Amino acid sequence: MPPNASPDLATSFLEQPLDNPLMNAAGVWCTLAAQLDALVESSAGALVTKSCTLSRRDGNAEPRYRALPLGSINSMGLPNEGYAYYLDYAACHDYERKPLFVSVSGLSLDDNLTIVAALREAVLPAFLELNLSCPNVEGKPQPGYDFEAMDQFLAEVATAYRRPFGVKLPPYFDFVHFDTAAEILNRYDNLAFITCINSIGNGLVIDTDSESTVIRPKDGFGGLGGDYVLPTALANVNAFYRRCPGKTIIGCGGVQTGAHVFQHLLAGATLVQVGTALHEEGPSIFDRLQHELRELMAKKGYSRIEEFRGRLKTL
Ligand code: SIN
Repeated sequence: MPPNASPDLATSFLEQPLDNPLMNAAGVWCTLAAQLDALVESSAGALVTKSCTLSRRDGNAEPRYRALPLGSINSMGLPNEGYAYYLDYAACHDYERKPLFVSVSGLSLDDNLTIVAALREAVLPAFLELNLSCPNVEGKPQPGYDFEAMDQFLAEVATAYRRPFGVKLPPYFDFVHFDTAAEILNRYDNLAFITCINSIGNGLVIDTDSESTVIRPKDGFGGLGGDYVLPTALANVNAFYRRCPGKTIIGCGGVQTGAHVFQHLLAGATLVQVGTALHEEGPSIFDRLQHELRELMAKKGYSRIEEFRGRLKTL
């Protein structure tokens, strides 16, 4: 790289160019149009809407999110405006400016098929991210943890949607689960991308002083984000990058610094989502992360992301 030249963060996702690989994680800063507009105005390379259901939902009782010294716990329960709201937003979005993902988390297969059909019929350049991993709706287990259900789910959605789409997975913790999940995902040619990971579901944070849980829903059980999840997120990104060579990986989990973005890219991610840290710092975080990533790349002599993306060394 010529001296004083700044590293280039430009990248592409399914042939769409992006200024940089950063975006929000679904659920953070993306429930209302004004929040989505703030992401459009920010330096994020792309944005994703809140996971939507058929109808508007208030979500779980408050308090349902708590920031912690090492991250966060949440049990939001899919508060969202209903899929029609996000489809309207997607219809007005300027796709020349940056890509928009629509996250869908219907409460049943039928709900998902209704939403997916509406998205297909809208013929928009938005990317569908199908959320198979929300841990926070009582009585609705995560489809990503039931491989038979996940396969059936994907067979129906892949056939109904026909266009390229992606899935947001829960974290897996055993090689046999990486193998089985990857084998299922690889059955579907139009499943083009995989987002790893959603929160680590059903953690329990206890406050010693009050001897109490810190969030109200589900007796305090909720999804963990932030520092708690970074190694698990990197493991899942790399596990699916190795096992699904025909698919694009989006990294999500524990990103708070430019070095964390670098680690996700090294593990094989093409885009990198920011959740807890965006919640705490707001959309200006994308400026800081890019600055830190550029500085790190310059120090290492990298001028472009493709020079190191996926090139994780092992001992
Ligand atoms: C929520 O709304 O409960 C979070 C969504 C998710 O974890 O997928």
